[in-house]
Amino acid sequence: MKHLLGLEGLSAAELTRLLDSAERFVGVGVGDVPKRDDLKGKVVVNLFYESSTRTRVSFGLAARRLGADVLDFSPGGSSTSKGETFIDTAKNIEAMGVDMVVVRHSSPGAPHVLAKHLLPHVRVINAGDGAHEHPTQGLLDIMTIRKRLGRVAGLTVGLVGDIAHSRVARSNIHGLKTLGAKVIVCGPTTLVPAEVSQLGVEVAHSLDEILPRCDVLNLLRIQFERQRSGLFPSIREYRLLFGMDSDRMQRAKSGVLLLAPGPINRGVEITPDVADGPSSAILDQVTNGLAVRMAVLSELAKVA
Ligand code: CP
Repeated sequence: MKHLLGLEGLSAAELTRLLDSAERFVGVGVGDVPKRDDLKGKVVVNLFYESSTRTRVSFGLAARRLGADVLDFSPGGSSTSKGETFIDTAKNIEAMGVDMVVVRHSSPGAPHVLAKHLLPHVRVINAGDGAHEHPTQGLLDIMTIRKRLGRVAGLTVGLVGDIAHSRVARSNIHGLKTLGAKVIVCGPTTLVPAEVSQLGVEVAHSLDEILPRCDVLNLLRIQFERQRSGLFPSIREYRLLFGMDSDRMQRAKSGVLLLAPGPINRGVEITPDVADGPSSAILDQVTNGLAVRMAVLSELAKVA
């Protein structure tokens, strides 16, 4: 694995190796636990063409805890405003001696383009490309499931909401299915593309119908910024049909684990009491994300 461009195509052994490695990175660099030097002498750049809180901050922290120098690039205030292309920007930053590029972009396939155009020693990590993939989010979701429920194989995981615009859904589907989970995608017909069934998932349009069957519910954010208007009648109607609340918790499978990739629209996909309640692992996901990103950076730094 020279780059991490997506979870599609990774084997169960490769996924398990990354997840096992991530578990060993939990707590590294915190308190008395020393930092490591896996990336000593390396330069990591966060090349983020879209907004981010969790992914950007945790990649930066992960790289520093592994001994790297970290650069941060945002298009705002850069020469992108003068018309410099994506590839020219990346090549110029590469020329400063960069070893690893963590890239987020609105265009699906942008990380693949960089993997093709950058020097052979440079590693590329996809931090989210359009509605295509967000592999480290998929890994941290699966790590959280594995830590909380002790396994992945044999579980039924419901991905609820805006499947059409969700790179998180695609990375979850690839990773979870490879590791032996059953995946149900559930949302309004306008937010569940017909072709998703080709990925070997069950398609549902009623959260109430799938509630008693799911061991895990991953409540995807409605991506208002990517939507044309009119994909569902109103936020109120979406909340009534697909929002997780205390009433639905009563009807969910006993011990159900709730995930949400964040940022959450409180009161839309999930009510605040449920988001902050004992079944929710939303902040555990963020903690695990740091360990996952350390594992990915460390693994790619080892590849010749
Ligand atoms: N879940 C996620 O990718 O969050 P950010 O957009 O804040 O990085």
